[in-house]
Amino acid sequence: MEQKIHVALGERSYDVRIAPGLIDQIGSSVAELTGAKQVVVITDSNVAPLYAARVTESLAAAGVVSRVLEFPAGEPSKNFATVSDLLDELLGSGEPIDRGTVIVPLGGGVAGDMGGFVAGVALRGLRFLQCPTSLLAVVDSSVGGKTGVDHAAGKNLIGVFHQPVGVLSDIESLRTLSIEELRNGLGECVKHAVIRDATLLDFIETNAETLQRVDGEKLAFDSDVMCELLAKNVAIKAQVVRTDERESGVRAHLNYGHTIGHAIETFVGYANIRHGEAVSLGMVTANHIAVARELFAPAVADRIANLLQSLNLPTTCGSLDAVKIWDIMKHDKKARGGQVRMVLPTGLGEVDIYDDITEQEVGEAVESIDG
Ligand SMILES: NC(=O)c1ccc[n+]([C@@H]2O[C@H](COP(=O)([O-])OP(=O)(O)OC[C@H]3O[C@@H](n4cnc5c(N)ncnc54)[C@H](O)[C@@H]3O)[C@@H](O)[C@H]2O)c1
Ligand SMILES: [Zn+2]
Repeated sequence: MEQKIHVALGERSYDVRIAPGLIDQIGSSVAELTGAKQVVVITDSNVAPLYAARVTESLAAAGVVSRVLEFPAGEPSKNFATVSDLLDELLGSGEPIDRGTVIVPLGGGVAGDMGGFVAGVALRGLRFLQCPTSLLAVVDSSVGGKTGVDHAAGKNLIGVFHQPVGVLSDIESLRTLSIEELRNGLGECVKHAVIRDATLLDFIETNAETLQRVDGEKLAFDSDVMCELLAKNVAIKAQVVRTDERESGVRAHLNYGHTIGHAIETFVGYANIRHGEAVSLGMVTANHIAVARELFAPAVADRIANLLQSLNLPTTCGSLDAVKIWDIMKHDKKARGGQVRMVLPTGLGEVDIYDDITEQEVGEAVESIDG
């Protein structure tokens, strides 16, 4: 079942491995990929009790000394204060680290982004091995080398590009995710399908129910189906990153659904909506604009909306203020000189970037999802 996707970035190239049981192989992977004798694991307070011991045991079995730094789970921790605490622990206590030390971020996108950032700045750059445990982190944040933290002025405003030496995605670790977190990640999978791969949309449609199966406390997805889903998505992300590592062009296609989506997140407050829900609304509104511009067939837009509904992601939202949403979009870091840019679908599996989006178009799109 194991899948391996190569992220081709010259001397910064690496492999993403996707398989069951990889958490127990971290020790041998670290030894093979880096030869390091010391690892520092950075993880959050939810993931630590579930998986940290298995990671440190695997490292010990491979003769690698390790310690675990833990931060409180959740996006509010993804800031400079937590980075500062982590650096204090990394540099000021325990066994001294050196330039050969390897960081292992273990957890969702927050652990990955922040652990990768700590690796990027400690001693002017340590190597790191990503170990994503949320669906969103496997299909999106663990691949591509964007690391960083949030600032009071906005999300992800501080960071560095720093590629990992590898990514180990243990699909069995996803079973302890909440169904809501799983759906968050499924939103990004739909995004990948719309921007690059119509067959991926078929695949998610066919398996929407299987993927969301729950048995008691645990997710009961079919391992083969999940493995295939992850591999297809990582391949798309890897291909986009390979062509445009630093987001000067096509990497921006990954922002499909995220321009209005981010504005909705800001408007309703990050604590009140999940990222995947906001992206779902962002995709529906982007599709609305594309249909109005006659770039995109209404039937395909309906098909995507139906799929999002079958994944229990929202396609309508009450009490949005279109004027405020537009205002937030104009001040987004990705708006250039106040010009709002959006990624719009031009066919299933194809998108383009438009920088002539008007307030009226956004207003109509936001009104279209009022419900
Ligand atoms: N670097 C990038 O390119 C990139 C891309 C997309 C998103 N992101 C970032 O990713 C973050 C979102 O990632 P996320 O949704 O994974 O958030 P997260 O890291 O907060 O994880 C979501 C929740 O799931 C829990 N969790 C994670 N793995 C688990 C497991 N196996 N079992 C049980 N619980 C588990 C976490 O503790 C947390 O409560 C955001 O900060 C976003 O900015 C980065
Ligand atoms: Zn996203």
